[in-house]
Amino acid sequence: MKSIAVAIDGPSGAGKSTIARAAAGRLGFVYVDTGAMYRTIGLAVCRAGVQLGDTAGILPVLPGIEVNLSYEDGVQHVLLNGEDVSDLIRTPEMSKYASFVSAVPEVRAFLLDTQRDMAKKCSVIMDGRDIGTVILPDAEVKIFLTASPEARARRRYLELQQKGENVTLDEVLADMIQRDRDDTTRAEAPLRQAEDAVLVDTSELTLEESMDAVEAVIRRVL
Ligand code: C5P
Repeated sequence: MKSIAVAIDGPSGAGKSTIARAAAGRLGFVYVDTGAMYRTIGLAVCRAGVQLGDTAGILPVLPGIEVNLSYEDGVQHVLLNGEDVSDLIRTPEMSKYASFVSAVPEVRAFLLDTQRDMAKKCSVIMDGRDIGTVILPDAEVKIFLTASPEARARRRYLELQQKGENVTLDEVLADMIQRDRDDTTRAEAPLRQAEDAVLVDTSELTLEESMDAVEAVIRRVL
């Protein structure tokens, strides 16, 4: 059977990874979380002592980085030079580092082939910011998944609270608005809806309803 590519783009906190992972499980596709790859590069850059904003400091770090995704029991793990960093990359600081490194053309070029190669090997659901516009412009299905900043901040806040992170809702909302601004206004592969993408707004939907809406869009091409 021909492999199928599903591109899901949208701002942070819209539920992309949860929904994409669930849809991939239900449909038997491989889930590829490209945000995790940017976060991993952010972690490597942070560990190398590069400060946020020091773009020139990123380039010398790149040659020493290998980012791989591995799948155990259907769960995606992100490896930085063989080390499983799946949990370490899920902090507010790494969100900032991911956004910082992702604006650098060399970083995007570094990940482009890896992401395209994954989609060649098997049917994938890939989520990110530029999957439908840059990485997989010929994807069979494109979805732009979004929600209001308030709804997204509320969800992310609850998630961080459960993990014991000490943040306020206002801080999470401010970070989210800043990250939206950075992601949509950068020169390199800015976040935008592809012309042929289907818009799914989850502001008023439960997680279950959002999953059903996304799955219904994908099933149209199966
Ligand atoms: O999706 P997630 O919040 O984990 O992504 C972290 C950051 O990585 C985003 O805020 C964005 O700046 C960047 N990113 C990107 N392109 C992608 C995926 C993520 O620029 N395809």
